[in-house]
Amino acid sequence: MGVAKSKQVFACSACGGVQTKWLGKCPDCGAWDALVAERLESKAKADPRGSAVQQWTQEQGGQGQVNRAVSVTDIDPKGGALARRIVTGMGELDRVLGGGIVPGSAVLVGGDPGIGKSTLLLQAAGALTKGGHRVLYVSSEESAEQVHMRAARLGVSGQGELFVLSDTSLERIGEQAARVLGEQVEGGTGKPGVLIIDSVQMVYNPAVEAFPGSLTQLRRCTAELVFMAKATGAAVLMVGHVTKDGILAGPRMLEHLVDAVVYFEGDRYHSHRIVRAVKNRFGSTLELGLFEMTGEGLREAPHGVLIAAAGAEGPPRAGTVVCPVLTGTRTLLVELQALTATGFPGAVKRKSSGVDASRLSMLIAVLEQHGGLRLADRDVFASAVGGIKVGEPAADLAMLLAIAGAHYKKAVPARTCAVGEVGLGGEVRAVAQLEQRLTEAARLGFTGVIVPKGKGKMVVPGGVKIELMGVGSVNEAIGLLG
Ligand code: TYD
Ligand code: MG
Repeated sequence: MGVAKSKQVFACSACGGVQTKWLGKCPDCGAWDALVAERLESKAKADPRGSAVQQWTQEQGGQGQVNRAVSVTDIDPKGGALARRIVTGMGELDRVLGGGIVPGSAVLVGGDPGIGKSTLLLQAAGALTKGGHRVLYVSSEESAEQVHMRAARLGVSGQGELFVLSDTSLERIGEQAARVLGEQVEGGTGKPGVLIIDSVQMVYNPAVEAFPGSLTQLRRCTAELVFMAKATGAAVLMVGHVTKDGILAGPRMLEHLVDAVVYFEGDRYHSHRIVRAVKNRFGSTLELGLFEMTGEGLREAPHGVLIAAAGAEGPPRAGTVVCPVLTGTRTLLVELQALTATGFPGAVKRKSSGVDASRLSMLIAVLEQHGGLRLADRDVFASAVGGIKVGEPAADLAMLLAIAGAHYKKAVPARTCAVGEVGLGGEVRAVAQLEQRLTEAARLGFTGVIVPKGKGKMVVPGGVKIELMGVGSVNEAIGLLG
């Protein structure tokens, strides 16, 4: 190795871009105060096929050591292994990943500390081994005993095919991965192995001259793990932590390196957990995985969930309205909340969380112009319960009714939710997939829905009784508050 030539550079913690001098603003992504001083390793070591990877390929009879170009006619147009997916057996996880994990791909699982990343991956490890895949679960944060105890609590046995390693050195992880998963690739079952790294932030490559935990280490280790997946056909699942202010410490820049990124959405104070794909090279990013955190780990919620401060049966509360929101093919019933308070005229606050800020401004303007509300001197706060992000215009009506309800201290009727898009003229417009939304609302205990007035007759979903209150304008809708 010798003494490597290294020089000081500045890496952007938002996008990973490297600059030769410190700048207040990253010229690549525009982030302020994001550059951190780091040592860059010499050129010779910059090939992501580092030591760990080489050991891995050597153990497989030396294949892959030389990367030879192949004739394009020899490449399976369906992508060969890429066409087959590793079905984890956890339906909700498979759903977010577009039907399973693609062999040879790398998936990043992001989320706040304590949200359930380790739980999900350990349960996935258990399900994968049931399906005949060999799994190496590398914990860089917990001891093997701790992982074992957690596995026992979650009812994960692994049936001998689940291997646990507590280590942070990428070199040793590569060795063990080759030992555990390599023979599986060579073996007869033909089922690709899965390597789980929990978490990638703690892994370091001793050959890289940068401190463990630095962006250089993180980028380099991730690149090597991604290459490991590609070279062997095993899949790699990596955990990445998000920092308090929402930016993944590093992992934002890792998004470019991996094939798929899924994030845990929601907060620790509600039992539901939503796993959303934000990038997927091999599938759509529309799908969600729904889970509930229980004493025995994550339970899948294949139908849908009600995300509200109280159940559907609770008494009506002014300023809160539940809306059946559609994401991918799922309907979530999400409670929208609003609060109005006396503000300083000319300097009123309009704050939103989980709800689009410009949509909120638009709804306030509609309420002023067409609903007869005076909000010019009122602060308006709006949020979606449970850390959920609601982006659908179909949630307009519920948001508007929550604001009007907060203003008048009136609520929508008991067990009633609302859905509809609001136009600038104060009209309530039709929404897509109404029947699906109604079916889910009925299933979760709602008996009435405020909906856009239909042209023809209203749809009543199969078998379930739910009262439809059609409204054509925001004024008609406000008239239903009592
Ligand atoms: P964990 O998977 O360790 O989170 P992460 O890896 O994202 O940091 O989840 C920890 C939280 O989940 C912790 O608050 C306890 C809770 N939990 C349960 O409620 N039930 C369980 O069976 C497990 C394993 C954890
Ligand atoms: Mg964890």
